[in-house]
Amino acid sequence: MPVLQTSAVPNNDDFQTRLAGFNRALEKLRQNHARIAEGGGPKMRERHISRGKIPVRDRIDMLLDPDAPFLELSALAAWSMYDNRVPSAGIVTGIGVVSGVPCMIIAHDATVSGGTYFAETVKKHFRAQEIADEQRLPVIYLVDSGGGNLPQQDLIFPDKEHFGGSFYMQSRMSARGIPQLAAVFGPCTAGGAYIPALSDEVIMTKGHGHIFLGGPPLVKAATKEEIDADSLGGAELHTYETGVSDHIAHSEAEALGKMRDIVANLNSPRALVTNNDVLPPRYDASEIGGIIGDDLKRPYDIREIIARVVDDSEFQPFKPDFGTTLVCGFAKIHGHPVGIIANNGVLFAESAVKGAHFIELCDQRQIPLLFMQNITGFMVGLESERAGISKHSAKLVYAVSNARVPKITLLCGGSYGAGNYGMCGRAFRPDFLFSWPTSRIAIMGGETAASVLTDLQRAKKADEDKIKALEKKTIDQFTEQEDPYYATARLWDDGIIEPEQTRDVLGICLGITADFEKDTGPRPVYRM
Ligand code: COA
Repeated sequence: MPVLQTSAVPNNDDFQTRLAGFNRALEKLRQNHARIAEGGGPKMRERHISRGKIPVRDRIDMLLDPDAPFLELSALAAWSMYDNRVPSAGIVTGIGVVSGVPCMIIAHDATVSGGTYFAETVKKHFRAQEIADEQRLPVIYLVDSGGGNLPQQDLIFPDKEHFGGSFYMQSRMSARGIPQLAAVFGPCTAGGAYIPALSDEVIMTKGHGHIFLGGPPLVKAATKEEIDADSLGGAELHTYETGVSDHIAHSEAEALGKMRDIVANLNSPRALVTNNDVLPPRYDASEIGGIIGDDLKRPYDIREIIARVVDDSEFQPFKPDFGTTLVCGFAKIHGHPVGIIANNGVLFAESAVKGAHFIELCDQRQIPLLFMQNITGFMVGLESERAGISKHSAKLVYAVSNARVPKITLLCGGSYGAGNYGMCGRAFRPDFLFSWPTSRIAIMGGETAASVLTDLQRAKKADEDKIKALEKKTIDQFTEQEDPYYATARLWDDGIIEPEQTRDVLGICLGITADFEKDTGPRPVYRM
């Protein structure tokens, strides 16, 4: 297979300038991750531990197989929202291996507002279930939650993808044979009671685990009955009397051990497909920062990135001399075959049809797709319209929408306008979508948006001072909102990852999707 070449020169000024900008962005990401790892802060953590409870990330570590990877999802959900008082949206989700079986883990952080559900908590819980449903991963709920965050009730309660929707998902997954397992470490109040109550198998820890539709304060308010939490819904009541719980544990460590035993006996067909004897890329991934920098206005050749992600830097290009602003080709990542579609400039009509053709090839050959986005959009203007850009870009969108193979999207740079759509943005249901800390996402750039809006006002002969103010306001708004942290806070992606980790993250995702259900129906390849 052809091997990609590099022209990166780590010693030159351009490389070093870019690297300095990139390192600032990387440092910010690491600081943000360190901040959320503290959960609700030292005081709440102290209180949690003094009650004999284990912090949420330590619970997960104890549950997972030693040395197995844990792919945490949307760690920075709710970042910068609520004065940053809801780190990780109060819930940790991710894919990890338990007793040899890859599982989706959904675990509350009780140090963050009692583990209650904000809008982003529900969205994150729901997204984790969606991935588990699509990938047929057993779900393990480590429950420690006061249920809905009451002031957020209109954002979490009634709609399709709100709290009720997560119980619907849980019931449907169980019926499809996707195991739903719960270990209860704290309160499961109101709707939260349904997480264990709808699970296939439940473990409760004595003393801390409680399940009730109404907790003691609500019972007192509703019926004037005064009762303590253990008597109302403790582990002994539910294991010995009601049968809501199947196992009682006398410590959290025991509960986690029992959970590992349950998973070991699921007779699960799921496995994380891994390959041996895989050659790493020929070029160092630590050079990616010096190639991309942090300024999207300074372009780079996406093949330099592909060369640092794929096995042995081998890449079989498709139509390398046609529609060259879209790089398409076949490669392997950790031994998994993948069809890569990567931006290398603005999308023209011919790059769009090339992309659509390539997607059909991958669909026909049942090869998963990787979209690498660095796109300002499709080319606009008379020449482009005459070349049929509206029609040809729609072909790309159509092909992306109907591809029957796993799709993974990586935001390496800009993700603007319809380019986001043609390159499998969130709306096109990629199985996974990750961003780099230097990426940006918006309907268009701030300066372009300001130019559109101010031109409209100038046409109406508006006051020039007002126009200037509008220009500033628009640029400020877009600058704030195109930031990757704004996006990840709102769950528009599955997390921001470090470029150097990309190959391993993609390897896990491809390992999860590797045994996807093959569609044996006809797969036409229309030459565009
Ligand atoms: N909605 C909004 N905020 C809530 C909340 C809820 N359902 N449950 C707890 N909180 C807040 C508390 O007010 C407190 O805020 P503060 O830190 O600003 O004072 C914070 O979360 C931590 O709660 P606290 O009671 O100190 O923690 P705890 O670990 O001792 O107890 C619970 C946790 C969940 C058992 C307890 O707070 C509780 O019973 N909450 C009510 C649960 C409920 O009835 N839910 C109904 C959902 S439909």
